[in-house]
Amino acid sequence: MFTDIETLNGRDLLGLADLTPLELRSLLELAAQIKAGKVKPYCPKVLGLLFTKASTRTRVSFSVGMYRLGGQVIDLSPDLTQMGRGEPIADMARVLDRYLDVLAIRTYQQQEVVTFAEYAAIPVINALTDLEHPCQILADLLTLQEVFGDLQGLSLTYLGDGNNVAHSLLLGCALVGVNIRVATPPDYQPLPEIVEQAKALAGDRSSVLITPDPVEAVVGAHALYTDVWASMGQEDLARDRIPIFQPYQVNQTLLDRAEAKAIVLHCLPAHRGEEITPEVLEGAQSRVWDQAENRLHTQQALLASVLGAQI
Ligand code: CP
Ligand code: NVA
Repeated sequence: MFTDIETLNGRDLLGLADLTPLELRSLLELAAQIKAGKVKPYCPKVLGLLFTKASTRTRVSFSVGMYRLGGQVIDLSPDLTQMGRGEPIADMARVLDRYLDVLAIRTYQQQEVVTFAEYAAIPVINALTDLEHPCQILADLLTLQEVFGDLQGLSLTYLGDGNNVAHSLLLGCALVGVNIRVATPPDYQPLPEIVEQAKALAGDRSSVLITPDPVEAVVGAHALYTDVWASMGQEDLARDRIPIFQPYQVNQTLLDRAEAKAIVLHCLPAHRGEEITPEVLEGAQSRVWDQAENRLHTQQALLASVLGAQI
């Protein structure tokens, strides 16, 4: 059960390692209870969304999650605020702190969310940076839990670029005892400091494998996970990356090497025919639409938790 001890009242979520294993499991439990209609947290507060990159799922799930708590949302896109005209983050943060109850930021550099958090006392949530995408992984783990029950001992394989989603998956899986395998082209591996952090968090509960070999990574896995080969801000590199990443495409041949009941996950948006084939994305083993739905329940749980909502 969700208890007061595990709430994140007033806390920031700048990366998944900001959570303890117990806090992460409590968030998943709260999200599951919200989804099942067993609890209905109430918190009539105000969320600011400051997004300098595009978003479908994160923007809408944060907004609907906040409305379901009885709260409201303000769009703080740079072209609507003075940020687009160069107002310093430290100034924005100190002012927004006086108006808002919680702030979710999507941007390029992790340092920007760190600076917001330094200057604003309200909870600051990383809604995706080039370094991490912690909110996505909450939904991914809830989806795995719904399909397989206990997370401990499962194996999840990520194939593709070793950047933000891979980083947060490494940390999130390590926190809950999921064996994480990451297969990337040699020049696109996750940052060594994130891999070391994941290994330290995993301890002897679960394993962390980084490999250039997609087949080695997939054999016996309970879930295959992929993401676009060129992230937001890297559009110019997309064409050149296709031949480099082709061996890591999630297709039926690769899926056949995983566990017979393996599921397929993708954070979306998907580029059909690149990182995933249309057949696999729409196939019987795909759980991507449940995964996308779970963004809503996990985001609502996260907001309720950092705002200290009445549960
Ligand atoms: N998965 C995800 O974060 O989607 P959006 O970019 O649409 O928010
Ligand atoms: N790696 C992708 C994730 C999108 C949700 C990006 O940063 O664009």
